Amino acid sequence: MYYPAYRPRRLRKNENLRRMVRETSLSVDDLIYPLFVAPGKNFKKEISSMPGNYQMSIDLIVEEAKEVRSLGIPAILLFGIPEKKDEVGSEAYDENGIVQRAIRAIKKEVPDLIVITDVCLCEYTSHGHCGIVRDGEVLNDITLELLAKEAITHAEAGADMVAPSDMMDGRVAAIRSGLDENGFQDIPIMAYSAKQASAFYGPFREAAESTPQFGDRRAYQMDAANILEALREVELDIEEGADIVMVKPALSCLDLIHAIKKEFGYPTAAYNVSGEFSMVKAAAEKGWLDEKRVTLEILTGIKRAGADIIITYHAKDVARWLQG
Ligand code: PBG
Repeated sequence: MYYPAYRPRRLRKNENLRRMVRETSLSVDDLIYPLFVAPGKNFKKEISSMPGNYQMSIDLIVEEAKEVRSLGIPAILLFGIPEKKDEVGSEAYDENGIVQRAIRAIKKEVPDLIVITDVCLCEYTSHGHCGIVRDGEVLNDITLELLAKEAITHAEAGADMVAPSDMMDGRVAAIRSGLDENGFQDIPIMAYSAKQASAFYGPFREAAESTPQFGDRRAYQMDAANILEALREVELDIEEGADIVMVKPALSCLDLIHAIKKEFGYPTAAYNVSGEFSMVKAAAEKGWLDEKRVTLEILTGIKRAGADIIITYHAKDVARWLQG
């Protein structure tokens, strides 16, 4: 008779033992909840491809922020849908733009909730691209100035952190110096450092009404096949002053998350994006997957890969599940 000396099953016998040896734990502390603010009053419109997520007017966003806070989620990530879009995305850097007004309203009512803002032009431009377009091309350097302006107006309105998602070269440096010159040395930057040109953003573009009107984003967002380039992008952002680096999307990029955390040891965020959320939702609605178990498994995997922070549309559900 052969008896294995080491039996991994010994420590799997019951939940208390499993708890004792569990290597990764998901906590509400890890979560950031994205929100979409739109014009109007008492306005709430469900995003059809993201059940349970809404475009909401400022009054309702404030109520939502209170709920997020009461669930113990430390932070929200704010996206804006402007009244009017134009060629240069004017409302992105208007001190009375939709996001700037929303920040003021939220910080007034829920001051201890961390408000992070997406810094990009695509939600505000008529063509839907993340920068200034000339002759069908997205121009890098003149976009930088506008992004810095956008970040400054967010900070002036009371944002706690800014998150540039445009993928222009040099934007972290431009935003850092813009913030510093205006007295916002202590506002951190969470940079979308390794952001791929991904098909997983489809549902978000419905939410933010930011689908490019021509072409795609492959001339500025990263090619999903590249990991060495992702490391270079992160290195650049850190040199330029990023405080938190982000990988996006998450589920198809676990190797990037791992490599980046290992190489740089910086606070690392992963964006569990709209398409990742919608896939789980759709399968759960069909009764094909158990939404709670699958979501917790995915988020634990993202954490195990090396993420410290997860931006997820499931944040409120997870907070409730972890309480229960
Ligand atoms: C804006 C932006 C996008 C997302 C976050 N910021 C869309 C895009 O780049 O097209 C995607 C988020 C998601 O899919 O959940 N640049």
